[in-house]
Amino acid sequence: MPKPYIPNDEWSRKAAAEGYRARSVYKLMELDEKFGLLKPGMKVLDCGASPGSWLQYTAAQIGPKGRAIGIDLTPIAPIADNVKTFIVDMKDRVAVDEVLSEEMKFPERGQEGNMARGQNVSPPESNPTYQASPTSFLSSQTSPFDLVLSDIAPSTSGIADVDQWRSIELNQMVAEVAQHWLKPGGRCVLKVFRGADFDQFLWELKRNWAEVKPAHVATSRDRSKEIYLVMRKAPSSKP
Ligand SMILES: C[S@@+](CC[C@H](N)C(=O)[O-])C[C@H]1O[C@@H](n2cnc3c(N)ncnc32)[C@H](O)[C@@H]1O
Repeated sequence: MPKPYIPNDEWSRKAAAEGYRARSVYKLMELDEKFGLLKPGMKVLDCGASPGSWLQYTAAQIGPKGRAIGIDLTPIAPIADNVKTFIVDMKDRVAVDEVLSEEMKFPERGQEGNMARGQNVSPPESNPTYQASPTSFLSSQTSPFDLVLSDIAPSTSGIADVDQWRSIELNQMVAEVAQHWLKPGGRCVLKVFRGADFDQFLWELKRNWAEVKPAHVATSRDRSKEIYLVMRKAPSSKP
């Protein structure tokens, strides 16, 4: 019998006491402990990042030489000097690619800060050099991510099948973005709700990724059907 949802549970109280914005930070900590995800100096993309607890933890793990970019539909209050956040719909692939291509340009942007770090900014104005194909952004001009994290979750309708399908849809977008923007051998973490379409989605992922490892975390609420997938991009594939 699943436990009822209690907003102010032990993990939420712990998160508040430790200065984290959400209890979900303990899920990332657990995954990091199990899989050794985050290292100093890494470039990390966090999809569905608001209110920002994963970014708080990530910022500390990657240190001042690392960079993290957070994307969400809702604003994220400033986090740290090595974090920038953007208000973008992950389903809008053109907007996502615009933001990432601007941010991942060589030489490294942001230290000199022509856009204030940690502030929420909308996608850059339409770029005259942008071409319809997202692959046009990847060239020697861009540097890829070491890790893509996603804790993205759709707003729930209360209808289990609909919510589960929306979660799969969002994750399909995140997986596409990750496959495109990760360096070869880079890793991606997805949160998925298990349901009727899960096996098909897992099968698709296994075809496109070198490694797909399912992981349950102790801090997931018992009533939740959520599962994390820790995936690795093929070492030889082009970014
Ligand atoms: C569980 S919360 C993430 C919590 C976050 N990992 C943290 O530690 O603070 C899921 C987030 O996914 C975001 N989200 C849902 N649909 C989205 C979309 N289409 N594009 C971007 N973000 C989305 C929601 O706005 C929400 O903030």
